[in-house]
Amino acid sequence: MDIAVLGTGSAGRTIAARLAELGHHVTIGTRDPEETAAREDFGEWAPSAPDVTLGTFEDAAAAAELIFLVTNGGAALDVLDLAGAGNVAGKVLVDVSNPLDFSRGFPPTLFVKDEDSLAERVQRAHPDARVVKSLSTMNASVMVRPADLGESTSVFVSGNDADAKAAVSALLESFGHDDVIDLGDITTARGAEMYLPLWLRLMGGLGTASFNIKVVR
Ligand SMILES: NC(=O)c1ccc[n+]([C@@H]2O[C@H](COP(=O)([O-])OP(=O)(O)OC[C@H]3O[C@@H](n4cnc5c(N)ncnc54)[C@H](OP(=O)(O)O)[C@@H]3O)[C@@H](O)[C@H]2O)c1
Repeated sequence: MDIAVLGTGSAGRTIAARLAELGHHVTIGTRDPEETAAREDFGEWAPSAPDVTLGTFEDAAAAAELIFLVTNGGAALDVLDLAGAGNVAGKVLVDVSNPLDFSRGFPPTLFVKDEDSLAERVQRAHPDARVVKSLSTMNASVMVRPADLGESTSVFVSGNDADAKAAVSALLESFGHDDVIDLGDITTARGAEMYLPLWLRLMGGLGTASFNIKVVR
């Protein structure tokens, strides 16, 4: 599949590399490809994912059948503007971003919560996109290789489009997820996003980001 990963941070790079490893044709999107290619962290990562193409947010989204949104949460809507509404319309848009506000230091607060969510803002801004919130409740390494934790754990999907959630669930299963829980429509992304404060405390308490929720029932 032709897939765009909008975001060149550690999560975007990790997802892009894993998708390419699984045989997808992946373009990773950024504001300024030349500047991004010159970054030390990107330059160290790029040889490990030689099949991933670097392009602008617009180029990446235009070529894609399915799009991962993996940018700074505060920039998510701007990034989709740069990608172009027409390049997003009708496509499955996997929202991995979190609405974290670091302006008052660590731990961050949530800049939207309770009665709204970042995923809903994305869906409202792009009503024709088939938005699915997923993967944001775990570290990037766990997102793409959950089996490395040594036992089955849970991942959530939220969205209004059942076919889009099925397509995303299939991708998650190809990463190794074997407990994909459909929370319901896009408003259920609020719960996934509001888990982040607990995730951050768990990371501090456990001293590692390599953990995940297992929903036992
Ligand atoms: N890291 C993880 O393990 C992890 C786990 C769960 C969820 N997440 C979520 O995934 C998202 C990405 O996290 P990350 O750590 O990989 O990277 P990040 O530093 O949060 O985001 C980097 C990306 O955001 C873009 N960006 C930042 N400010 C921008 C602006 N003003 N306008 C346009 N684009 C802007 C950057 O664009 P350029 O490429 O142009 O620089 C870059 O592609 C976040 O929402 C995070 O909460 C991350």
